[in-house]
Amino acid sequence: MTGTVIYPGTFDPITNGHTDLVQRAARVFEHVIVAVAANPTKQPYFSLEERVELARSAVAEQKNITVTSFDGLLVDFARTQGASVLLRGLRAVSDFEYEFQLANMNRKLAPDIETVFLTPAEHFAYISSSLVREIASLGGDVSPFVHSKVGAALYKRIS
Ligand code: COA
Repeated sequence: MTGTVIYPGTFDPITNGHTDLVQRAARVFEHVIVAVAANPTKQPYFSLEERVELARSAVAEQKNITVTSFDGLLVDFARTQGASVLLRGLRAVSDFEYEFQLANMNRKLAPDIETVFLTPAEHFAYISSSLVREIASLGGDVSPFVHSKVGAALYKRIS
């Protein structure tokens, strides 16, 4: 596919499951924008600036990938970027209901913007940011799940 796709999320922090999806999208679209949502309702563990910096570290080697933050409505942000496609990941059936609601609401808000879905590699299907945070906080090894800089940031925050 041509054009730009927006991959939005809280990325608190970015995991290998997220980066797997970004890399898949980068093979399909000309440009992928990883859009880190301010998302004040979630009270994120890392600040917006930290989440952007960690996401940049995790996808640094990719030329057609940009990481940036956004505030406000996702569809408005997509328009400012000239993008008409949103990307979301489906890890399991349990993701479907929320993603279906989000995609339909975004379609209602902006009928000209489409949501597409990709699935991460099966061995990333069980990863989530909150589980990674919990494992780190209990002294577990998060290296299989996140970039080394993300792991270091988690342990630094906990100590
Ligand atoms: N690999 C690993 N984990 C993944 C994943 C993947 N491929 N895809 C999703 N996840 C996990 C995340 O780690 C996160 O886990 P957690 O809940 O344990 O922290 C969870 O799935 C969902 O996170 P994420 O994909 O970041 O989505 P989100 O629900 O936090 O973000 C936004 C949703 C940002 C897209 C949405 O809130 C939004 O659009 N906000 C902007 C405001 C707006 O427009 N609102 C109206 C929407 S209709």
